[in-house]
Amino acid sequence: MEKRKNFSSKLGIVLASAGSAVGLGNVWRFPTEVGEGGGAAFILVYVLCVVLLGLPLMVSEFIIGRYTHKNTADAYRQLAPRSGWIAQGYLGVFTSWFILCYYSVVAGWTMKYLVEAIVGGLSEISDSSAYFAAFSGSTWEPLVYMTVVMLLCHLVIIRGVQSGIERSSKLMMPLLLLIIAMLVVFSFSMPGSSAGLTFLLKPDLSKLTSSVILSAMGQAFFSLSIAMGCLCTYASYFTDDARLVKTAGSVAAIDTTVAIMSGFIMFPAVFSVEAVTPDAGPGLVFITLPHVFSIAFGNVPLLGWFFSVMFYLLLLLAALTSMVSIHEPPTAFLLEHFKLSRPVATTIVTVVCLCVGVLCCLSFGPLADCRPLFGLTFFDFFDFVSAKIFLPLGGIIISLFVGWRLDRDIVVSQLTNNGSLHIPAWFIAAFIFLLRWLIPLAVGGIFIRELGLI
Ligand code: PFF
Repeated sequence: MEKRKNFSSKLGIVLASAGSAVGLGNVWRFPTEVGEGGGAAFILVYVLCVVLLGLPLMVSEFIIGRYTHKNTADAYRQLAPRSGWIAQGYLGVFTSWFILCYYSVVAGWTMKYLVEAIVGGLSEISDSSAYFAAFSGSTWEPLVYMTVVMLLCHLVIIRGVQSGIERSSKLMMPLLLLIIAMLVVFSFSMPGSSAGLTFLLKPDLSKLTSSVILSAMGQAFFSLSIAMGCLCTYASYFTDDARLVKTAGSVAAIDTTVAIMSGFIMFPAVFSVEAVTPDAGPGLVFITLPHVFSIAFGNVPLLGWFFSVMFYLLLLLAALTSMVSIHEPPTAFLLEHFKLSRPVATTIVTVVCLCVGVLCCLSFGPLADCRPLFGLTFFDFFDFVSAKIFLPLGGIIISLFVGWRLDRDIVVSQLTNNGSLHIPAWFIAAFIFLLRWLIPLAVGGIFIRELGLI
């Protein structure tokens, strides 16, 4: 078994964790949710959820990972031996494994669209909705793209913590931020874009229904990669001088900025084209945008080409850094728990994900009518179980664990780096209060509602 390594620098720590957080959730899911949830009102609630629920949970996962320096399952085993809390460690490993199976399908789609954008194929699509349905519903093409992105992720993970995860994040994250800045400028410069800005900046509070609040909360968790074992696993590679609260603050700030910037890219562009509405749903990125690109840049094809290539490259980079972080918890578990070598552990995770991924991938085509579990397709089942069940459940358990069960000295020593940092007493008291009361009640509320029990 390889010797356990840490990330080599504080920058590496922030970029790797931000790489996990910034993903399809920001560029694909967030604008969709904003579009459906009424724009600025949704963003307002989302930011509150990030600060009050997301940040404390992220810091909690950091505490567990950095204190134990172990994979998620063994971390809980060390902190609460022979207790039911150990189940949460395994839940983290399984949740990320589940997510990887369907996340890689959508990551594959982004690669297909990037390739099409590069060869100029996107501008020739006349009916983007039919095109997307034909592609995602076919058998081999989506499978090939899913396999290619999975193998890219495999190549990063197999190289380990420093030369794989850290180095790739240091390369991909700055590139991603640069592309975002460029695309925001492009989008703003399109005629008619101001309607999109108004939609994003002017809250219409009448749109704030309880279901919008619930989706904002779910989106915040998914986007920050909370309760899936990733942050806990990454934190197990943090050095002892890493500042947990500051790192969590930076990651949440980068993640939220990228999400809002993605809205700034998407909506001015969407509003600048007549007959395209912001509430197009999950198809926004794969159906609406190609249409936007081809219409908006009909007279300046080169600009349309550049804009679309950059956009899908951004989406692919974001997806890849997140996939890497989703791959690592099960890999670290197999590697450390069963004392396997990294190449073997990585290969097992990749092969299992590819096998299950085939079922998710074909859910849009040959297996569309195959719904053995709860009447859902395989893709929807994996999405539902991980995002709607495992994720809130994990959030509740982590908050209760750190709030009530974990020794307070461990919490304080991790927050203050063994007393070398000054963290005000009120901050620690507020942190514990949120974990003990607000988070379990709020997330428990969503959970029960999502399950349709109230
Ligand atoms: N946070 C990622 C995103 O916004 O796309 C998705 C993700 C990463 C989910 C890591 C789960 C995870 F463990």
